[in-house]
Parts: sequence; C-alpha cells; structure tokens
Amino acid sequence: MPKLTDQYTTIPVTGGSLKFRRLDENFFRLEETLLDENSSKLDCPHKIGALFKLEGGSLISASVMTDEPREYVPKEKHPWESLSLDEIGLIHGTDKSSSKHNLLKDYEKIFLERFGRNWRNKTINLIEIGICNGSSIRTWARAIPNGQVLGVDNIKACTLLCRDISNVHLVHADATDQSLLDKVYPCHVIIDDGRHLVQDISKSLKLLWGILEKGGIYIIEDTLCMYNMNYIRDLENNLDVSEYKLERMKFIDTITKMVNKRIINYLQIHRNYFILFKS
Ligand SMILES: C[S@@+](CC[C@H](N)C(=O)[O-])C[C@H]1O[C@@H](n2cnc3c(N)ncnc32)[C@H](O)[C@@H]1O
Repeated sequence: MPKLTDQYTTIPVTGGSLKFRRLDENFFRLEETLLDENSSKLDCPHKIGALFKLEGGSLISASVMTDEPREYVPKEKHPWESLSLDEIGLIHGTDKSSSKHNLLKDYEKIFLERFGRNWRNKTINLIEIGICNGSSIRTWARAIPNGQVLGVDNIKACTLLCRDISNVHLVHADATDQSLLDKVYPCHVIIDDGRHLVQDISKSLKLLWGILEKGGIYIIEDTLCMYNMNYIRDLENNLDVSEYKLERMKFIDTITKMVNKRIINYLQIHRNYFILFKS
C-alpha cells in the first residue's frame, strides 16, 4: 500500500496509475489518470474529481453510496461569499465543478441572469434530487447561505449527511413517487441529478413542476445518459429498447408542448443538461 502522507499520492492500477490529492487526513480527490507507456486502457471506473475515503489503509470510493455515508467536510474555514460557485464546488469535490462536468460556471451565469447580480445573497430555495455523498448539496448551501437547500434521495443513509450545515434539509423519498410532495416546499430552483433515466426524469418533472415558483429554473442533468444504452441497460434489467426510445420521444414531446402552451417560458438544451425556465 503506498504511503499517503504527501499532498499528492499516486496509486498503481492495471494499465497505469491514479493521482490523488489529499483534502484532509481521510479524504482524497482523484486528480488525474496516468496511462502507462505501453497500455491503451487504464482500469479505473471513477471519474476525475471523484472523492475517496481512506479506510483500513485503502482508498474507498466515496462517490458511490453504500449503507454508510462517506462525506467530505472541509476543515478549513473558507470565505464562501468571495468564491465563485465553481470554486466552492471544487472545494467540496462535486463532479458538477470544472473537475468534471463543468456545469457550475454555466449555472453561475444563468442564475445571475435569472435572479440578479446579488443572487448569492437572496433567499433562493433549491431542491436537488440525488444527494449521493452530499458534495453538491454542500456546494449549494455554501453558495446561497440565505436560501434553503433541500436534498432528496431514495437511499436513507444519504439523508444523514450535511448535519453541520443549518440551511440544508435532507429527505428520504423516491423522487418519482407522489408521496414526495408531502416532503417538499415551494422553491426557485429544482435540479434533477437522480437516476437519469427518462421515465424517472419525466415523473419527477410532472410531480415537482407545480412547486416551482413562477420564473423558477428546472435543471435536468446528465441528459447524455438518456441516450447511452450501456448506462440504461446497467440500470434496467429487462430493458425494452423500443419502449425506452418511445418514452424518450414522449418526454421531448411533453416539454415541447409545455413551451408551446407557455407553461415553460423557454427551454435550453445544452450538451448534457436541459434547463426549463418557468413562465
Ligand atoms: C448522480 S448521484 C447524485 C450526485 C449529487 N447530486 C452530486 O452532485 O454530488 C444520484 C443519486 O440519486 C439517487 N437517486 C436515484 N434514483 C432516485 C429516486 N428515484 N429518488 C431519489 N433519489 C434517487 C441515488 O441514490 C444517488 O445518490
């Protein structure tokens, strides 16, 4: 086992090595994958930016939830108000930051346009489907300290995270089930970062659209997954491909009709995420 005492540490894997940056005594972030000279592929199912916890001398992925929550709580005090949304995301290790999906720089511009120049000080209520290790929930809570951040996850252990942050509220619920409505409140932003399957996205949208305030923003993330048959097959055992494709077309049809009827003011389709702006 390599010594994990330096700020950076490299661990060999089949085909190359993984370079981690130490965040504190327990947590590491995957910074780089380094391919060996003669190999064409490296054995690493994790993405750059993924969080890992050191347990019993081994680095264990903290990005995938198991029964036990593994969360990274930055020990250092940070001047959140003077940091960009992306910088806050990088500190917490969320894959929405420029370490991977690079969404936060876009969101910063979009939120500024929608909620005004001092949006970070406003009472913006945000709901995110998908807590996982809590890194994006922490990011939002630090970015909008006067707003409330509600996280929803169908894994109960995820809802035990972020207990040190007062403007976070986490609930155990299935974001595709009607009972979710008993646990949520009106909000200005909804982010769907759940299972990324079209039937889930569609059900959550139907459920939650009503609690989104006028002028609010509904973000659907990782929309490339809707078109990635390997990803979908991994989640759906008895996948009927034509049925799935039909569902996907129906969903696109639904949101188009919502625009036509001015229920959605306008719709932005970006690479890997959609944004629905409520009229
Ligand atoms: C991609 S992760 C969320 C990552 C997190 N938002 C972040 O950026 O750090 C997806 C999470 O959605 C949760 N999830 C999947 N399907 C769900 C559902 N139907 N209802 C609620 N949560 C769900 C999973 O348990 C998982 O923790």
